[in-house]
Parts: sequence; structure tokens; C-alpha cells
Amino acid sequence: MKFFIDTADLDEIREAQSWGILSGVTTNPSLYARTGGKLADFEPHMVKICQIVGPDVPVSAESTAETTEGMIAEGERLASLAPNIVVKLPICEASLPATHKLVSEGIKVNMTLVFSAPQALLAARAGARYISPFVGRYDDIADDGLDQLDTIVTAVKNYSYGYWDEEGGPEIITASVRSPHHVTEAALMGADIATVPFAALKKCVHHPLTDRGLEGFAKDWAKVTGKE
Ligand code: E4P
Repeated sequence: MKFFIDTADLDEIREAQSWGILSGVTTNPSLYARTGGKLADFEPHMVKICQIVGPDVPVSAESTAETTEGMIAEGERLASLAPNIVVKLPICEASLPATHKLVSEGIKVNMTLVFSAPQALLAARAGARYISPFVGRYDDIADDGLDQLDTIVTAVKNYSYGYWDEEGGPEIITASVRSPHHVTEAALMGADIATVPFAALKKCVHHPLTDRGLEGFAKDWAKVTGKE
């Protein structure tokens, strides 16, 4: 499974990239707002992210337009910022024709705020390059986000759609990830990607037995070096 980082924070992106595990970045209006950035800085900020990760790493930048025409115009503008920009659109009646138009221009779309199999299937059929089902927000309302993800992965992977075949698309990005457990279960289901907040990504590195083992090795090595 590929790891994307779910943040607009430049330092977190730099750190995750230094690990050598980064295959993509996803942002959204809330994640950008969390950086304290203003509207005038949004596009330069997205360009900075694209420059940090390099042209082969997709960076999802979300359109906030609410009409098909607005989504097309914003999508074309976002795509013009850098070759690795992926235009993020929420699944809705306005974004399906916008996706279809943008895809016809060779622009990649990440269809987001997906919570059901019909939404995911429509996104795939419209030509989305990435489809982002949210897991954590189901859990936030005491529903089963992983069960929904399993349904979506199975349903989407049952078919081919005639778009992005050469890139293995559409790829499913497990989104709204809250824990290593979400990452594990998404991988077991065959989701292509997990986009993970940096805090959760760091939790994926650690395990109590690993930490305990490291302490034990250090303690015993101190005996070897006489530094105990
Ligand atoms: C990613 O593309 C989504 O926008 C993000 O994972 C949403 O996460 P949240 O549900 O924690 O806001």
C-alpha cells in the first residue's frame, strides 16, 4: 500500500519525505486553514508543497467552488500551478460533469468526501483518478468506517472504467485516517493508498514492544561498552 501524508504543513511534509516513504500529499480547506495561511498565499503554498515533494509525487489541492463551471475554472487553474497537482473535488452533482471535463483535458481529479459505494462508483465512472472514502468520520458518529471502506474497495475494484488504466487508476485513497489500525485494515482490504496525518504516521512507526526492545538492547550494550 502507498502512504500519502494528509497535511498542508510544510515541515511535516519535509519530515515525511525524508523517511523515503512518501507517495503523495492530500490537503483540504481545513488543513490549509490550520497552517494559518490566507487566501492570497494558498496557490504559492500549494506550489511550495509540489516543489518539496517533486514532480512525480501527486499533491491534492481542493477546489472550493460550488458550481460545475467554477470547479472547472478552479481545477484548470490549480492544475496549471504544477505538473503534480491533483484537483480535489467533493462528490456532488456539480462535480461529476466538472470531473468529466477536467479529465478530458488530462487533468487528474481526486474525488473526496466519499462515504458510500454508489458515490465511489459514480466518481470512478466520471473519470476520477483517485477516490477518497472517509473512514474516521464514520467512526466519529459511532458507525463502522472500515466496513464501509471494505464495501467501497470491493465494489470499485469489480470493474474497469477506461480511465487511467495505464497508471492503475482509479486508485482508492483511504482518508480520514485516525490510527495505525485504520492503516492495517485498509491494507488488508486492498485499498491502494492511505493518506495519514503526520501524528498517526508517527504512531505507525512505533510499537510498545519495539520501544521496549530498543531499551533492552541499549541497556545490554552499555555493559559491553562499560557505560552502564
Ligand atoms: C483527505 O483527503 C481528507 O480530506 C482528510 O483525510 C479528512 O480527514 P478528517 O476526517 O480527519 O478531516
